[in-house]
Amino acid sequence: MKRIGVLTGGGDAPGLNAVIRGLTLALEGVEVLGIEDGYLGLIERRTRPLGRAAVAGIEADGGTMLGTTNRVSPLNYRDRDWSADVISYARELGLAGLVAIGGDGTMAIASALHMRGLPTLGLPKTIDNDIACVERSLGFDTAVATVTEALERSHTTGASHGRVMLVETMGRTAGWLALEAGLAGAADIILLPEIGFDLDAVAAVCSARTAHRGSALICVAEGAKPRGGEMTFRGVVPGAPEPQRLGGVAEKLATDLAARLQCEVRATVLGHVQRGGTPSPGDRLLGTLLGETGATMALADLWGSMVTFEGGRIGAVPLADVAGRTRRVPLSHHLLDCARHIGVSLGEADA
Ligand code: F6P
Repeated sequence: MKRIGVLTGGGDAPGLNAVIRGLTLALEGVEVLGIEDGYLGLIERRTRPLGRAAVAGIEADGGTMLGTTNRVSPLNYRDRDWSADVISYARELGLAGLVAIGGDGTMAIASALHMRGLPTLGLPKTIDNDIACVERSLGFDTAVATVTEALERSHTTGASHGRVMLVETMGRTAGWLALEAGLAGAADIILLPEIGFDLDAVAAVCSARTAHRGSALICVAEGAKPRGGEMTFRGVVPGAPEPQRLGGVAEKLATDLAARLQCEVRATVLGHVQRGGTPSPGDRLLGTLLGETGATMALADLWGSMVTFEGGRIGAVPLADVAGRTRRVPLSHHLLDCARHIGVSLGEADA
């Protein structure tokens, strides 16, 4: 019987279990092997069989039933290239191919393994929504809802106390999550990595809003930075070639704004709550569709591609075309126009 491996890589996202279920159910007549903890499971030779019973009812569960690891690559794990080892392990298992569910890092590794001889297929996910050729990535819809709710809650407490409230979102170097949730949650100011903000402009909008309404709400992406400045980094992974964790911008801004405005400012860093919890119906649906499409491609031996989602349609592109590419908010985008048009500040000096 044909055998196919599946793993989830990188940071988790709501909807991953729906993909695993959709893939497993659609791979009728195929033995599906779940690889544990992303690429680490390939390195450490840890798998478990999946089937109808194993995936029953998991579509509404947050996280990933297979486990995942962030920033573990068989191309460079503990100062060694493990690609030959993992490829020979896949051959020992008799895998016809590997389905890798993940973000751009997972896709880059999948592309490299495919080129080195392990047939691989990529299924995209990330709450950051920053994968090339994917306009709504798995997990993004749920994360937007989580951030929107946090903004709504910040509105009421901020209004009660007459404070400037800051909510910091994830998103790495892309501002999609802050932009969509900021609009949905009626933030007064939305700060994105793609548009360097002007502190004077941010302070002026806060003053105007607090004078008019008593409080102000800022939605700031973790990768946002002052105009001409650098992104701030919250954490450094020991041994990593560069700092790995963005963030800290909300606390820094809160300190600066409190000093300038002489008012109370509070910052909330949402962190990993944005990745956890029950996937929205939209992410369950997208996950199921991605899994089923992945199964169809795997059954047809169409390896070497990543499934795409553009213009509301599912498609595929070569993995090599998306590896290493990040989709950020273009400076000309209808949501930016919408924000400016309704008086939401993007922290621009001339706004
Ligand atoms: O890429 C997803 C993401 O959640 C980013 O938004 C965030 O910067 C990063 O992962 C956090 O990584 P970790 O889970 O390693 O802290």
